[in-house]
Amino acid sequence: MTPIAKTISEVRTAVAAARQAGQTIAFVPTMGALHNGHAALIQAARRSAPYVVVSIFVNPTQFGPHEDFARYPRTLEQDHQLCTEARASLIFVPTVDEMYPENFVTFVEVKELDQLLCGASRPRHFRGVCTVVLKLLNIVQPDVAHFGAKDFQQARIIQQMVRDLNVPVQIRIEPTVREPDGLAMSSRNQYLTPAERAVAPRIYQALQSVLQRARSGEIDVARLESVLQGELSAIPGARVDYARIVDAERLQPLSRLDRPAVAAVAVVLGQTRLIDNVVIA
Ligand code: PAJ
Repeated sequence: MTPIAKTISEVRTAVAAARQAGQTIAFVPTMGALHNGHAALIQAARRSAPYVVVSIFVNPTQFGPHEDFARYPRTLEQDHQLCTEARASLIFVPTVDEMYPENFVTFVEVKELDQLLCGASRPRHFRGVCTVVLKLLNIVQPDVAHFGAKDFQQARIIQQMVRDLNVPVQIRIEPTVREPDGLAMSSRNQYLTPAERAVAPRIYQALQSVLQRARSGEIDVARLESVLQGELSAIPGARVDYARIVDAERLQPLSRLDRPAVAAVAVVLGQTRLIDNVVIA
């Protein structure tokens, strides 16, 4: 079984030993409830470096006061199994106190990229994500860290943070892993009722239909956004949080598809908020 480190000092000791043995380090941060999307990141990390650290930490600072921090799935035993099968070298599972001791007062904010999409509906979410990811990068000090394109805005923001703050790590972004019916894998999919799960693939179908229209020459973003909005609102029980097509680099509004763009959506099905996106190159 992959060994588990619970403290920062245990991680530092293990990583130092790997470095001493001449190994480079790859890192995959997660919040656990691991699925095949996470497994793909661990496999990609194994191709990047011989020593792979996976962190599992449900980070309280990235959840809003009325979000699902308390009920977020915690499945450490299965996660341990998945990490072992994916041949991770070390799992870091800190407590909240280990990461946020008393008198913790420092936060990292990436401006501008956090204004639209999830940043608009989850005001301090990315501040919490950046703070914990920078802390984890400082603890593990990997050569390479892997993130999923499923959380497109998160990945862009972390790339920007690493660039702006000169963090000596290479960020790699891996494609979204999907269920056979197209639904993006997510730890939150397990919240879905059977009826919600049955209609959830329509989120990706809506993104695909916009991608197809763009490929057949539609460049008017307002028209494409209204198609997206329309298809998503037609999903029974769905509330569309946002359905936007933005500049893939700056995550800012666009009026015409004259540069790489991303169609990004957040849809609330019952109690569950699902996000997905496709890049329109
Ligand atoms: P979590 O949601 O557990 O996701 C951990 C990593 O797995 C993220 O980089 C995410 O983009 C990636 N991932 C999730 N679902 C995926 C899928 N279907 N295909 C490919 N990659 C997928 O994202 C977080 O945790 C947290 O915000 C974290 C970065 C760990 C900071 O707390």
